[in-house]
Amino acid sequence: MSNTLMILAHPVIENSIGNKIISDNFSKADNTEVRHLDKLYPDFNIDVNAEQEALLKADTIIFQFPLFWYNMPAMLKHWIDKVFEYGFAFGTGAQLTGKKVVLSFTIGSPVSSYPNEIIQKIAFPFQGLAEYCKLQYLGEIFCNDINGYSEAAKENATDIANKHAQKLLELINN
Ligand SMILES: Cc1cc2nc3c(=O)[nH]c(=O)nc-3n(C[C@H](O)[C@H](O)[C@H](O)COP(=O)(O)O)c2cc1C
Repeated sequence: MSNTLMILAHPVIENSIGNKIISDNFSKADNTEVRHLDKLYPDFNIDVNAEQEALLKADTIIFQFPLFWYNMPAMLKHWIDKVFEYGFAFGTGAQLTGKKVVLSFTIGSPVSSYPNEIIQKIAFPFQGLAEYCKLQYLGEIFCNDINGYSEAAKENATDIANKHAQKLLELINN
């Protein structure tokens, strides 16, 4: 049975619609683990060994986050900087070779503001990381209009996030 690890970065999951729905759905599937970085490391003091062990056990790694200024949240960037070190993730003794990676993120703005050209710019650092560490990049799953500015927007966001969660589960089950 293959194991899928979700690396979740969201600073205030209590207020989340999208990432909460997606990660909750994911955690109910078999052979999955969610590591919510902000909960594990509120002081940003990453346990590199624990994170590397979790990665070694996984066949597929999902990076899950809300888009912040066209980018990943600072916690996720910090985690990658610490955990994907020489001798573990790349260089002599690279240990993640062949594992699969999926990028999964939520966007506040509508689809019209996020053509594929922009999505590819957002994905580029992850595609680069995958290539450098010899991981198999499976692609991006993202959704737009995730905001709770009104009751209607919140309801819409809930539906959109549920569909996103479904797509993610289909991808990892194939
Ligand atoms: C600091 C910050 C930066 C953000 N930057 C963007 C952005 O660049 N583009 C965008 O569409 N939404 C942006 N948003 C909106 C979030 O992407 C949106 O609230 C999030 O995806 C919703 O997910 P959640 O329901 O799990 O919190 C930003 C939100 C915050 C708090």
